[in-house]
Amino acid sequence: MKLKRTHTCGQLRKEDVGSTIQLNGWVNTCRDHGDLTFVDLRDRYGITQIIFNPDHNQEVHTSAKELRSEFVIAIRGTVGPRLQGKENPDLATGEIEVLVDELAILSKADVLPMEVADHAEISTEVRLKNRHLDLRRPKMQQNLMFRHKIVQTTREYFNRHNFLDIETPMLTKSTPEGARDFLVPSRLSPGEFFALPQSPQLFKQVLMCSGYDRYYQIVKCFRDEDLRADRQPEFTQVDVEMAFVDQDDIIECMEGLIIEIMALAGIEVKPPFPRFSFQDCMDKYGKDAPDLRFGLEIKDVSDLAAQTDFKVFSGAIESGGQVRAINAKGASENIARRQLDRYSEYVKEFGAKGLAWMRVEDGKVNSPIAKFLEEDLLNRMLERVNGEAGDVIFLVADQRKVVDQTLGNLRLTLAKDLDLIPENEWNLSWVVDFPMVEWDEDEQRYVALHHPFTAPKPEYADSLEENPKAAIAIAHDLILNGNEIGGGSIRIHDQGMQKQIFRLLGITEEEAELKFGFLLAALRHGAPPHGGIALGLDRIVMLLRGLESIRDSIAFPKTQKGTCLFTLAPSPVSDRQLREVSIQVVGSAAKKDS
Ligand code: AMO
Ligand code: AMP
Repeated sequence: MKLKRTHTCGQLRKEDVGSTIQLNGWVNTCRDHGDLTFVDLRDRYGITQIIFNPDHNQEVHTSAKELRSEFVIAIRGTVGPRLQGKENPDLATGEIEVLVDELAILSKADVLPMEVADHAEISTEVRLKNRHLDLRRPKMQQNLMFRHKIVQTTREYFNRHNFLDIETPMLTKSTPEGARDFLVPSRLSPGEFFALPQSPQLFKQVLMCSGYDRYYQIVKCFRDEDLRADRQPEFTQVDVEMAFVDQDDIIECMEGLIIEIMALAGIEVKPPFPRFSFQDCMDKYGKDAPDLRFGLEIKDVSDLAAQTDFKVFSGAIESGGQVRAINAKGASENIARRQLDRYSEYVKEFGAKGLAWMRVEDGKVNSPIAKFLEEDLLNRMLERVNGEAGDVIFLVADQRKVVDQTLGNLRLTLAKDLDLIPENEWNLSWVVDFPMVEWDEDEQRYVALHHPFTAPKPEYADSLEENPKAAIAIAHDLILNGNEIGGGSIRIHDQGMQKQIFRLLGITEEEAELKFGFLLAALRHGAPPHGGIALGLDRIVMLLRGLESIRDSIAFPKTQKGTCLFTLAPSPVSDRQLREVSIQVVGSAAKKDS
């Protein structure tokens, strides 16, 4: 190749003035100013302004007329200072420009389906369809370069602490994280399927049993679940497991890593991060991953609501529900009447039957429910939520789960609407003391809150079967600004306890053997106490880079519908391929398959 680069497009400075250099890159912009042609040349390191001047070199100036956006070129030229007043403080190379002596067009570009610039407003669909161009945008390049730094720092951290990076299979058996599996048919075992791992959970536990007492892996996980702004069907975990440790050891180890990761974004955080119990979080914030950067705490007024004749409240309590409230302190003048109507509509999304509100004014309460509430009760409710003139109080009456979901989400919405979330605050906390199990209404059985291998706190071990709901697990979630960025636990390493948990979860011995037999064997043959955690890498990148969607932290992500617009996967396969894996597509899906 002619004109190989001597510098990147982000490298040249005032000190380089006078040198002859060569650059390679993409034409970012091309401005023809009559005599002079200015080109911003771009690579992932930055942008350098290059100039074609006919007085300097007529021939090269003429060939520059051919340049268009996104042509790939090579140039040789001389670094010069920019004219006084023409410096660009926004560019690292803004004090210099390069006067071009020689130009080679390495590749031309057709007219582009989208602009390659950070400021361009482009729909998600167009961006994902043209990911090769989208990934050229400086912002996306910075996201991926930042992701790389996190990965490097993570590897260095674990290597320094004597962890082993061990790969685990992608073609494997169904794992217990509770989402739907992606299945892979097996040609050699007709009618049988691999599952892509939802996490390496079982393998990392086996590795502990095999003596690899400190394991980590930066690993793809696959979950076929409903997608949201912070979820992808294929995502990456920083997966960790340690033997001969307790929960404090795991937490301390991860805090050390998180401090280094945060430092990459210029954020200083200090250990230990505060720990909150699951119950406390649910009570105060309605969520197990609470955003603690602002108040708007939830208050229970059920005992008062039980005493009223207002059926919406008393009825909810009688049927085993609760009434809880949020006081939007001093927000009355910022919440218009029609906004209150909108909130009343919004809460239905979470299953609430309604939303009661009260505006506290000097000496009175303005509320559609005021007339139903006895004065004394109303005053005691106000006292409970510290209601004062200028406040707006929101109340929800329903079953506890609905109340939590409604107020937990309303709290976040209110914080955004009222601008209560401080910028540049990074709130890291651990949520611990999760219940072992929760009751699944659909399946009519207990399900594990984390997974079936999570150990109970020793003090609950004996009463597990009598009172499963009360049992507390040795589990830990890591929360950053209200987002779960990691989760893990101390595992069960005792066969008897594992059997007991399976019984509790309605998993028969045969079923357990069939699904997790290999782990159970490992636990039977000498298992050390162990535990671990997995961090969600994509989410961490998203949060630290301030991205709206997890997609922008991943080079080739899936859409909300779980498809890849760039490669157009998933897609039909030939009948021959289907026959090879003994699969027949039936019903409406078959029609698309022509
Ligand atoms: P868990 O299921 O909590 O734990 O997952 C760990 C972390 O992975 C991230 N995460 C996701 N990120 C993007 N898209 C998804 N669909 C997605 N699902 C999860 C979250 C989450 O905190 N085996 C256990 C870990 C352990 O017990 O050691 C596990 O997978 O940030
Ligand atoms: P209604 O008697 O249904 O007209 O409701 C009277 C008021 O109570 C209205 O302001 C409703 O929005 C509110 N409301 C209704 N159901 C609930 C509920 N489950 N929780 C809180 N407020 C409710």
